Amino acid sequence: MEFFIDTADIDEIRDLASTGLVDGVTTNPSLIAKSGRDILEVTKEIAETVSGPVSAEVTALDYDGMIAEGRKLAKIADNIVVKLPLTEDGLKACKTFSDEGIKTNVTLCFSAAQALLAAKAGATYVSPFVGRLDDIGQDGLELIADIVEIFENFEALETKVLVASTRNPYHIVEAAKLGAHVATIPPKVLRSMYSHHLTDKGLDTFMKDWASTGQSIL
Ligand code: E4P
Repeated sequence: MEFFIDTADIDEIRDLASTGLVDGVTTNPSLIAKSGRDILEVTKEIAETVSGPVSAEVTALDYDGMIAEGRKLAKIADNIVVKLPLTEDGLKACKTFSDEGIKTNVTLCFSAAQALLAAKAGATYVSPFVGRLDDIGQDGLELIADIVEIFENFEALETKVLVASTRNPYHIVEAAKLGAHVATIPPKVLRSMYSHHLTDKGLDTFMKDWASTGQSIL
């Protein structure tokens, strides 16, 4: 499973990318707003920092606007993926970009029917939002299971399932068990995946015992 980080904070991206555990980045208009940066500048910087796919989202709601914005975003760097909302115009734009060989991420997916349409439109990625479904009392991971099952039925289908709106390590582990291709993870959640109190406790004991030997490896 690939790990993308879900942020437009360049310091966080630099820090996490240095671990070698990050395969790509996703952004959205809210994350750009939170960064306080100019979208074109920060997207360029992110695309230079990470060699993998960097999703940059259009903000137009109509087809022509999405095409114009998407083309501009795609020109920033070779690893830019144009992120489009799962609307009729968004899917139409997705089909156009996919026919032109421009990579796409169809976002704000909340149903298997929507995911099927995104795949049909040639999306490189479709992003089902698990956390936001959980928030309204539905099971976000059940949607991932449905989409993975459907996509597995059609070998020719190349769209990757990008699990988005992840809120905790459980979402990531369960999505991996279900066979989702990618998870986009907020920095805080990715960091929390390192931690286990038994790791801390065990390391503490090892260090105390090691100190009692008076030895040094170097
Ligand atoms: C997806 O690409 C979105 O940027 C993101 O995962 C949304 O997450 P949220 O529901 O925590 O805002």
